[in-house]
Amino acid sequence: MVKICCIGAGYVGGPTMAVIALKCPEIEVVVVDISEPRIAGWNSERLPIYEPGLDDVVRQCRGRNLSFSTDVHRHVADADIVFVSVNTPTKTCGLGAGKAADLTYWESAARMIADVSLSDKIVVEKSTVPVKTAEAIEKILAHNGRSGVRYQILSNPEFLAEGTAVRDLLSPDRVLIGGRETPEGRAAVAALRDVYARWVPGDRIITTNLWSAELSKLAANAFLAQRISSVNAISALCEATGADVAEVAHSVGKDARIGPRFLAASVGFGGSCFQKDILNLVYICECYGLPEVAGYWREVIRINDYQKCRFVNRVVSSMFNTVAGKKVAVLGFAFKKDTGDTRETPAIDVCNGLLGDKAVVSIYDPQVTGEQVARDLAMKKFDWDHPRHLQPLSATEMAKQVAVAADAYEAARDAHAVCILTEWDEFRSLDYKRMFDAMHKPAFIFDGRNVVDVAKLREIGFVVYSIGKPLDDWLKDMPAVA
Ligand code: NAI
Repeated sequence: MVKICCIGAGYVGGPTMAVIALKCPEIEVVVVDISEPRIAGWNSERLPIYEPGLDDVVRQCRGRNLSFSTDVHRHVADADIVFVSVNTPTKTCGLGAGKAADLTYWESAARMIADVSLSDKIVVEKSTVPVKTAEAIEKILAHNGRSGVRYQILSNPEFLAEGTAVRDLLSPDRVLIGGRETPEGRAAVAALRDVYARWVPGDRIITTNLWSAELSKLAANAFLAQRISSVNAISALCEATGADVAEVAHSVGKDARIGPRFLAASVGFGGSCFQKDILNLVYICECYGLPEVAGYWREVIRINDYQKCRFVNRVVSSMFNTVAGKKVAVLGFAFKKDTGDTRETPAIDVCNGLLGDKAVVSIYDPQVTGEQVARDLAMKKFDWDHPRHLQPLSATEMAKQVAVAADAYEAARDAHAVCILTEWDEFRSLDYKRMFDAMHKPAFIFDGRNVVDVAKLREIGFVVYSIGKPLDDWLKDMPAVA
């Protein structure tokens, strides 16, 4: 019987291991983490992350062949296959600050594996790491491990998307496994392949060399984010010309070479991965002496920052160039629907932009707590291009200017404007007439996700702005925004 241990019980480690446990009842799967609250959450009735379908999978396996523990050393020592799914954020200081991946957690996990292992192990990179990380990990394990213990490093990047993690894991487009092209390397690849082969069709399991697997993950995220920045760049041109970005995206996406997915214009992409992974790619390109390639990918992030900035400017300029003292309802704070994750959510930048203009912001998100909102808005913002921390609001300013509402109607009561920043399904079917009646006039809606029926809301009486859509006469008269 194979025993699997996964280091890191986060958005990736938790769901991935739960699905492996579900599909491989004869494999014992343990997820370990240094964070006691996280592990306590996984062992409770209220899981530490919100992910549709996850409760059910965990309920079926926990206590059978799936467990969660803080006893990291024991479970790593016992395992045959060790997945490492720790966080790999962008470095905030030192060499490569603002771009390079911070591998502190990864390195400490690797050193711990070397310390505690008494038997051979397959060590699987599940975290997204810079290309060539496996080489560094091999060196750490070789120089620090006990004699006679052999390691094989595999790269098995995760392609799940938050909000659809369980579906993605049960039926992945592909599983990618990279390994050394030696007999031992091939055997390790085959062992991991056998695990996935219990439920993933063979033609969806791709095996490559280590560097291709590591780079493919960074490249895939860069391509996905590039599509969003491409359609967002076109959305600005649509507003300037009277074209409708939804119509343009539909027409463009009908080309089979382009395809329809990931072409929804928005206030910008967020999440813990896109920006971090592109920055990482940019840094790697710079390190390898490829400034033009670095510049090409950097532009994807610049357009994303531009889009968030453009949205805030649109709100402020439409409302007579001032939102000072005006209540603005913010609907949605998570970086996308069906997750409570707020890492790098565009809502943080939009709210900070509005707060900087002295607005009073009332936030409602079905999955994000008030504490989380406060933590996010209190966080110093890192300016990736010129590494430095931008100052957030003080606690007193925050208390005066930020409130968290129990529902959308409470958020909108007595507001001058509503900003929709996450595409939660419930925002499509709100009683907007009820909201309108409780708001100051003129009542504005700024839809950063294109979820509302613009014509219907204009009929109610709202001044409506929807990203990339033909502008209201009201907005046309306002100064151009950039
Ligand atoms: P996360 O921050 O939710 O989870 C990481 C966990 O690792 C934390 O609970 C932390 O306490 C734990 N940890 C850190 N160092 C540890 C150590 N030495 N020993 C034990 N536990 C330790 O991060 P998330 O979102 O799960 O991401 C993990 C990796 O997967 C990252 O590299 C990310 O880029 C990648 N990834 C993330 C995706 C996502 O949608 N969140 C999708 C695909 C890949």
